[in-house]
Amino acid sequence: MVCGWCSWILTEPDKTAVEYSHQLNDRIKAAIAMAGGALDFSDFMSLALYSPGLGYYSAGQTRFGHGGDFITAPLVSSFFAKALAGQAAVVLASLGSGDVLEFGAGNGQMAYDLLCELDRLGHCPEHYYVVDVSADLKATQAKTLAGLPAHLRNRVEWLDRPPGAGFRGVVIANEVLDALPVRRFEREVSGVSALGVGEEDGRLCWRKTPADQVLIDAVAEIEADIGEPLAEGYQSEWCPSLAPWVNELGRLLDQGLILLIDYGYPRREFYHPQRGMGTLVCHYRHHAHDDPFFWPGLQDITAFVDFTAVARAGVNSGLELAGFATQGNFLAGAGIGQILEREAAGDPNRAAELAQQVKPLLFPDEMGERFKVMAFSRSLPVTLPAFSFVDHCDRL
Ligand SMILES: C[S@@+](CC[C@H](N)C(=O)[O-])C[C@H]1O[C@@H](n2cnc3c(N)ncnc32)[C@H](O)[C@@H]1O
Repeated sequence: MVCGWCSWILTEPDKTAVEYSHQLNDRIKAAIAMAGGALDFSDFMSLALYSPGLGYYSAGQTRFGHGGDFITAPLVSSFFAKALAGQAAVVLASLGSGDVLEFGAGNGQMAYDLLCELDRLGHCPEHYYVVDVSADLKATQAKTLAGLPAHLRNRVEWLDRPPGAGFRGVVIANEVLDALPVRRFEREVSGVSALGVGEEDGRLCWRKTPADQVLIDAVAEIEADIGEPLAEGYQSEWCPSLAPWVNELGRLLDQGLILLIDYGYPRREFYHPQRGMGTLVCHYRHHAHDDPFFWPGLQDITAFVDFTAVARAGVNSGLELAGFATQGNFLAGAGIGQILEREAAGDPNRAAELAQQVKPLLFPDEMGERFKVMAFSRSLPVTLPAFSFVDHCDRL
C-alpha cells in the first residue's frame, strides 16, 4: 500500500506530459553539453520554466488553482484583487486618470477582478496593460478576460515588452519576482562555488564549479550587508535579473505606484544562519519540495525574494520606497475587513463564509506573514492607506 504522502511522487504524469518532460530533459542535457558539462542554475531554471513549447509556463497545461500545482492569492479569493483595487483607485483618483500595468498575469483572474472592482469604485483605468513572458498564459488570460463586459474588456491590451517610459498609473506584479531564475552558490572556506546542473548516468544532478567574479561579488555584498561571512557549506540563491527587472520599472514609471507582492524576506532574514540550504521551492500537485530535477517542465521552481535587494534596486533607479508590510497587515490596512462586511450585507452566515474564504490570505501561518508587499512611488500626491497599519521599511 502506498501512503497518501508518497502517492503524489509515485503516480506517473499522463503520457503526453511524460513525453514533454523527456523532450525538455534532452534540451537541458544539450545545453549542459554546450556549457562544457555544468549549466548555471539560472539557465537551467529558465529552460525548465520558459523553454518555448516545453517549459513549465510555456507548454499549455493547467498550472494554477486546485487542478494544478499551486494556488496564488488572487485564486484563493477575489477579495485579494478587491483590496488591491481599493489602493489602485486611491492612486488613479489622485492622478485624475491613468493606466494599470500588470506583470505576469497568470490565468488572468486578478485582472478580471481588479477591473470589475475599479469599475464599481468609479475609477476605471484608461488601459489595463498586461506583460507576460508566457505566450501560453497570454492565451489563457485572453480567454478569462473575454468574459468581461465590453467596456472593460476593451481596455485590456497585451504588450510584448514593458512600456519604455512615461507610464502614469499603477504597476502590479503578484508572484512574479519568485519566478525569476536564480543562481545557486555554496560558501567554501576559501571562496565561493557555483551550484550548477550536470548530468550523471543520464540523470540531471548538481554540479559544483568555481564561482565567476559576478557571483563572488554578489556573495561579498551579501556578507557585507549581513555583517559577517556565511558559514562554511552555506548554500543559497542570488537572483541576477532582479535588479535589472526593478530598474526597468524605475525607467517606465513617470507618476504613480508600483506594488510588488511575493514570498520573501529582508536580506538579514533571507541569509539567516538557519536557512543554510537556501530557499528554493518546487511545486508539484500541491506538494512543496526541494528537488528541481523532478519531472522537468512539469513542476514549478521558485525561490524566495530578497526584499532588501528589491528596495535597493528601486531606490537606485530613482523610485521612492513607499511601504513594506506583510500581506496580512497590508490587506488589513487596505480595508479587506470592510470590503467583506459590505459584501456580507448584514447576513451573519454569509459573513462567516466570506471570513473563512479570506483566512488563508491573512493568517500568519498561511500567506499572511510569508508574503510581503513592497510599494514604490514616483511623484504621487497621496500616501497609501494600506500601510497605515504597519510599515516595516526599517527591517530592510
Ligand atoms: C507564479 S505565476 C503568478 C501568476 C499571477 N500573478 C497570480 O498571482 O496568479 C508567475 C507569472 O509571471 C510570469 N512571468 C515570469 N517572469 C516574467 C517576466 N520577467 N515578466 C513578465 N511576466 C513574467 C509567468 O509567465 C506567470 O504568468
